[in-house]
Amino acid sequence: MYAWHCDTELEIFSGWGPRRSKTTYEAKFKEFLENPPADLAVFAVERAGELTGRIELSEIDYENRRACMGLFLGDKRRWGAGVGSAAVVIMLDYAFSVLNLSRIFARTYAFNDRARRLMKSVGFVEEGVLRSHEMHNGTLRDMCVYGMLATEFRERHPTLFSVPE
Ligand SMILES: CC(C)(COP(=O)(O)OP(=O)(O)OC[C@H]1O[C@@H](n2cnc3c(N)ncnc32)[C@H](O)[C@@H]1OP(=O)(O)O)[C@@H](O)C(=O)NCCC(=O)NCCS
Repeated sequence: MYAWHCDTELEIFSGWGPRRSKTTYEAKFKEFLENPPADLAVFAVERAGELTGRIELSEIDYENRRACMGLFLGDKRRWGAGVGSAAVVIMLDYAFSVLNLSRIFARTYAFNDRARRLMKSVGFVEEGVLRSHEMHNGTLRDMCVYGMLATEFRERHPTLFSVPE
């Protein structure tokens, strides 16, 4: 995971954060495990028994029944093989069926074609573009906002979390 944290290509697509030393990274991770924020749910993405990436719901808001979704596959050998789409569908199912949320939204850089195609193929609606929204390596970049409602998800995808009759 620390190698992913230091990977410039991943930063380009996922966003820029402070680059940390391994010691600081491990200390932050330990702190996160011991005191996880109440509005954050993080899951590992596994493929063939190997840690492949990370997917999360942040800004979980039970009053307004919404959350923001983010993901990356640190193992680039897995890119373009459907792993990201599968992880997103399972995450959405969890958000709508287990957490009983009604809206999931996501933001991607406008230049991130792969992530935008993923959003579209899973059934997210592109709700708009936040123009010059985020500083990205010295340049302000547009960000696309995607949203999916529980009703839209259920029209397209079966749930893994159904209770037997
Ligand atoms: C974005 C990411 C999560 C997508 O996961 P993935 O497993 O690679 O995506 P999938 O294989 O499920 O494919 C999703 C779509 O992208 C398409 N795709 C694959 N390679 C592509 C490429 N080089 N350019 C554009 N689209 C591409 C796939 O064909 C698919 O579209 P389709 O269903 O219309 O065919 C992953 O590539 C990743 O972690 N990238 C770096 C970090 C990142 O961008 N995170 C997202 C931040 S919002």
